[in-house]
Amino acid sequence: MKKLAVLASGAGSILQALIAHDLPIALVVADRPCPALDIADAAGIPTWLIRRPSFGPDFNRTAYTTLVITALHEHHINLIAMAGWMTILDPAIFDAFPRHILNTHPSLLPAFKGDRAVADALAYGVKLTGCTVHIATAELDAGPILAQAAVPVLPSDTRETLHERIKHQERKLYPHIIRQLMQPESGQQE
Ligand code: GRF
Repeated sequence: MKKLAVLASGAGSILQALIAHDLPIALVVADRPCPALDIADAAGIPTWLIRRPSFGPDFNRTAYTTLVITALHEHHINLIAMAGWMTILDPAIFDAFPRHILNTHPSLLPAFKGDRAVADALAYGVKLTGCTVHIATAELDAGPILAQAAVPVLPSDTRETLHERIKHQERKLYPHIIRQLMQPESGQQE
């Protein structure tokens, strides 16, 4: 059985879904104070706030990533699920945990990468969007795709209503895929 950590920065509703699906989460790491930490606390999951010291050009991404890798190693983590994690990490983390960092993204990749995926899909006028669970790599929102779910865009949609319907799918798809990868026989190499 793998030892799972979740990286989060925000509301934590995807984390909440992972907890509700009884996934054994060994650690939740956050880069800023956020509701996801409270959700982890309430569930009795160990948390580690590695507060990002800067959101400006002086942010030392390499040093920050080293802190995150150290926290994960200290907890003997070998599977990592990003769930609304908002800090781009240095490529060193993908070398430290090759093919064992997962992400869920609120679009049908490779369309609409980046942190404005839902707004960009609305602005483009697509009639169908969705979510993608993929293996995270050093290139943002670009690793091998594991699963996708489609969500129709409604004429009345705002960014908020569309994102909420996408998250509804993420909350079902992500736990399912993570559970598969937790199994030793999942085919993922240690
Ligand atoms: C999800 O839509 C995820 O795909 C994106 O951030 C959102 C996280 O939602 N990266 P929450 O903070 O778990 O509610």
